[in-house]
Amino acid sequence: MSTLRWNGREREVAAPLTAPLLDVLRDELGDTTPKPGCREGRCGACTVLLDGEPVLSCLVPLGRALDGEVTTLAGGVQGSSSAAGVAGVQDAFAAAGAVQCGICTPGMIMAVHAVLSETPDATDEQVLEGLVNNLCRCTGYQKIREAVATLTRRSESARG
Ligand code: FES
Ligand code: FES
Repeated sequence: MSTLRWNGREREVAAPLTAPLLDVLRDELGDTTPKPGCREGRCGACTVLLDGEPVLSCLVPLGRALDGEVTTLAGGVQGSSSAAGVAGVQDAFAAAGAVQCGICTPGMIMAVHAVLSETPDATDEQVLEGLVNNLCRCTGYQKIREAVATLTRRSESARG
């Protein structure tokens, strides 16, 4: 057994150290917010934060994640209240209609949140750069851009 720090808790997990973090989260911990898309590091649907940095959980072995704190969409929503927090980003995506099938959405939200946490006054371009590893096959990206623009405008008005 190993101890994984996940969304502010410590949980014992039985998976081997080589198991993909994505599978441990979904199958052992029942956290289905990280989505299995390509499982090859090409779509970003499985994005979670490891010590605040976005990582592709399909490519991260459990053994590497044991050194840090894993945050998924589920934990981020519970733990956030600011506009750039996970819940705020989720609200912006919902308001802009940037969600269709929803497979890409948790990964997109975690990636946007990571940029805005690191750089609260990030421009649209900087946030969209943070999404280069996140693919969406449904929305054509326009609604996603609109959601991002809402968030960057909020940070502009917060700066006055
Ligand atoms: S499922 Fe991990 S990058 Fe596609
Ligand atoms: S909403 Fe379907 S893949 Fe993005």
